[in-house]
Amino acid sequence: MCGIVGYIGNTNATPILINALKKLEYRGYDSAGIAVLDKEDIVVRKCKGMIKSLEAKIADEVISGTMGIGHTRWATHGEPSDVNSHPQTNVSGTIAVVHNGIIENYAEIKSWLQNQGVVFRSETDTEVIAHLLNYHYEKTQKDIFKAVLKTLNHLEGSYALGVLCKDFPDRIIVARKDSPLVVGLGNGENFMGSDVPALLEHTREVHFLNDHEVAVLYRDRIDLFTDKGEKLIRKPFHVDWDIAAAEKNGYEHFMMKEIHEQPKALLDTFKLWNEIDLKDSWKDVQRIVITACGTAYHAGVVGKYAFEQFTRIPVEVDVASEYRYRNPVCSKNDAFIVISQSGETADTLAAVRLAKSHGSRILAITNCVGSTLSREADEVIYTRAGPEIAVASTKAFTTQLMCMYMLALKTAEIRGTMSKTELEKNLTELATISEKAQEIVDNKETIQKFAARQFNKNKVFFMGRLYDYAVSLESALKLKEIAYTHSESFAAGELKHGPIALVDNSTLVVAIATQKKLYEKLASNIKEVATRGASTLAITTDHSGLFDNTVDETFVIPETFDAFSPMLSVIPAQLFAYYCSIQRGNNPDKPRNLAKSVTVE
Ligand code: AGP
Repeated sequence: MCGIVGYIGNTNATPILINALKKLEYRGYDSAGIAVLDKEDIVVRKCKGMIKSLEAKIADEVISGTMGIGHTRWATHGEPSDVNSHPQTNVSGTIAVVHNGIIENYAEIKSWLQNQGVVFRSETDTEVIAHLLNYHYEKTQKDIFKAVLKTLNHLEGSYALGVLCKDFPDRIIVARKDSPLVVGLGNGENFMGSDVPALLEHTREVHFLNDHEVAVLYRDRIDLFTDKGEKLIRKPFHVDWDIAAAEKNGYEHFMMKEIHEQPKALLDTFKLWNEIDLKDSWKDVQRIVITACGTAYHAGVVGKYAFEQFTRIPVEVDVASEYRYRNPVCSKNDAFIVISQSGETADTLAAVRLAKSHGSRILAITNCVGSTLSREADEVIYTRAGPEIAVASTKAFTTQLMCMYMLALKTAEIRGTMSKTELEKNLTELATISEKAQEIVDNKETIQKFAARQFNKNKVFFMGRLYDYAVSLESALKLKEIAYTHSESFAAGELKHGPIALVDNSTLVVAIATQKKLYEKLASNIKEVATRGASTLAITTDHSGLFDNTVDETFVIPETFDAFSPMLSVIPAQLFAYYCSIQRGNNPDKPRNLAKSVTVE
């Protein structure tokens, strides 16, 4: 996820662009840049780092143009660096582009352009847009509007684009498909941005672009078109949100926004399937070791079950802070999978270095391009979650799970432990997870009502078996982190070996029940705690009403393969933690004593 902005008017564009970018920094902050049409030329200034680095870079310069575009980046293709920052330009620097999204067919377009003699400077998918625009600009007798339409026709994937052309000092062209874009109407000046906060300081009259729409911003008007060039007439929308709300897209908290982003993040991550290209050495792996911290460790527990089920390779999973100190047995034949949203967690990095020193190959799953982990690993798979701002991890977790499943299936494919038909069946099911996640999010009020009744329980236990046990671990962590409720998780079979002594009528027990062959066993465990006075909730894939007589409430989630259920069953638990946190008067985005990235031991 990145943020783009644009301005065309009669005052100095640079401070307007910089301020607008600051409002979008939550969308990405590993590099930033602007392109301003100053007199006859497009001046591009960009650099790795946050917007303040860009400000420092241009502090002593006078860039006085009155129109320009800007970008704040969350790297996807190419690590954060000056050259990979946006804007990207054509070879002669006469056309500049900012882009939010992912061009899925960029490799194909790039090699076609390279065959035409174009020399690329960056590793970004965006640079292909700049060169393709140049190609069509020449082919359309230098008609930039036509060149944009023709370019869009070739692009697959998602984009919000801003285009500046030196020969057209009276217009900025923007376009959208599957990435948000809004244009704002001022008085003798107009604006564009990925999100409303970029514009609110200047105007509240906006057009939200729909997919396949293009807008041309002049100083005195904005014209709207389809991407086929047909003119559109639409009344502007009046925004009456306050700025703080708008930065969160109207959600009260980033955590809620991020919970809602999961269907898209899961789909975007699933689309990586064809890009995962495991090294040949995976064929001979004899053991897999997974290590991580916190939520990422819970993704590792799910990964262990999935790998063992799909590939029959033995898997060990450990929290990184234990692994680094326990004198582990490491070998060259181990594959070492490390999971970290930030890629900067100190304990996780220490575990990586230890495993590396023993010759293990490292595969990292991370959400942050250019992070320390991504640089130190031998192979990297990036989750496509976009920036996660709330301290409590939600979309990073579900996308880590998606990566673990894909990795296990790829390994099964290359080692021949799964038939082609089975593999296809699994992939077809994975493709449905996003819409099933959407169904759960759409039904959030049921969880909200449940939380309103249960939020002041002082003991909450989560239990489950197999994959559901892993989800119990994550569910209890979520509740601890943001509701500050004492919560624990148990493998349901362990209950009678001790924890049941804690159960009384002040306890809430949440059973995660998605493993079909174990439904009955879990129903018995629920009865055992209910008999001792506990309130009970079942989060289940059972649609037959099996749990209705055993629990106080059931929350039924869409059916999926047992192995894939964690990506769905964790969502009601995230929502429950969120609503309990709100009921208790906490700020779920910034829980006490916690930091988003734990870079110290
Ligand atoms: C998750 O809600 C937590 N904030 C925390 O457990 C987190 O998952 C852990 O610190 C690991 O972070 P990482 O994924 O960035 O390595």
